[in-house]
Amino acid sequence: MSKIIRYTCILLPFFAFVAAMQLTSCGSEKETSGDDEATNADTIVAIDTTKIPIGKYGASVRYGRQLMLHTAYYIGPNGINGHYTGNKMNCTNCHRDAGTRPYAFNLMRSFKDYPQYRAREGRILSLAERINNCVMRPNLGKPLPLNSREMVSIMAYLKFLSDSSNVSRVTKGLKNMEVALPDEAASSDRGEALYKSYCERCHAANGEGKMRFDNVTYEYPPVWGLLAYRPGSSMHRVIKLAQWLKANMPYDKATIGNPVLSDAEALDIAAFINDDRKHKRPLSKTSNEVDYPNYEEKAVDYDKGPFKDPFSENQHKYGPYKPIIEYWKSHGVTPTI
Ligand code: HEC
Ligand code: HEC
Repeated sequence: MSKIIRYTCILLPFFAFVAAMQLTSCGSEKETSGDDEATNADTIVAIDTTKIPIGKYGASVRYGRQLMLHTAYYIGPNGINGHYTGNKMNCTNCHRDAGTRPYAFNLMRSFKDYPQYRAREGRILSLAERINNCVMRPNLGKPLPLNSREMVSIMAYLKFLSDSSNVSRVTKGLKNMEVALPDEAASSDRGEALYKSYCERCHAANGEGKMRFDNVTYEYPPVWGLLAYRPGSSMHRVIKLAQWLKANMPYDKATIGNPVLSDAEALDIAAFINDDRKHKRPLSKTSNEVDYPNYEEKAVDYDKGPFKDPFSENQHKYGPYKPIIEYWKSHGVTPTI
């Protein structure tokens, strides 16, 4: 809504008559639109799925929600409605509670926030393109056609989330939990020991998780191996993964806003899980895929050069991150973490 209003405002100088009539509404809409910061909730409130409307749109929203929860069942390698994702993970494994849980890559604003400039692609992406990024990278799949029932339904579900919540950009839980960055590098070896004590009982010693009894999807999804997320997924960045782990794992111990792992532990475990010297990951890439065409826009913990700063791939991957952040700040750039 606010985008439309802004657009109208930009057009105003060209339509003097309309301008005269709408000038006031531009001003007043801004104050009362309720779209942003001032009027919004402090914390994310659960979505009431009984409010999903009846009718065609509601059916689409419902199917979209089911796709997030049971991705592999519907569109996995043996999916009943199509074969799109290449592994048996579900969107909800990362976007927990079908994208509604705080601090778990929450999706309650995504419908409002796209189209959006994405540094990884170096261009504006539509929401559908962003969804397909996740279908292709963490889910090792082929893109959903834009007019498929599946894409339309995931979009409808995200629209419903966005319409029925008043989550602003600063609502707690929309973004990740922060982890304090230590002066030393994260240690994959320390992380290995921590993984054994905190994580192995579910995700297994070989990192491949545990398949559910019916072989449709996982009871415990894989964290590395040829069926886990691939490099180029945001989860493969150490800080990004550490932030998610802090808020979400161990699954049966961490509750919303009450982490079990310390910041340093989360970083060490993330360093171990994402250590490609120790573990295999799928390497398939689609031919038209680019990562950060503008090198200066690379996220601090993105681990593939070339870089426009003097730091090594190793330091970008494991840290220490502070010197990298300081370097960019001293060049007038706030780096992405
Ligand atoms: C292995 C974990 C993982 C899985 C599985 C996954 N995603 Fe994602 N997704 C991410 C991460 C990480 C991001 C980036 C979040 C960030 O930068 O804060 C993301 C971002 C997104 C975004 C953009 C959100 C925004 O507002 O910018 C959408 C939409 C999305 N994913 C949809 C999906 C859908 C649909 C599926 C299932 C087909 C899926 N994801 C599966 C990890 C995952
Ligand atoms: C009690 C079992 C259990 C324990 C212990 C546990 N996890 Fe998980 N983990 C899960 C489940 C279940 C999911 C899927 C969550 C969902 O669908 O809501 C998951 C999801 C994940 C994911 C995202 C999906 C993927 O596979 O990429 C990662 C990463 C992860 N866990 C890492 C860890 C780490 C690291 C630890 C130890 C600190 C840990 N987990 C401890 C059960 C567990």
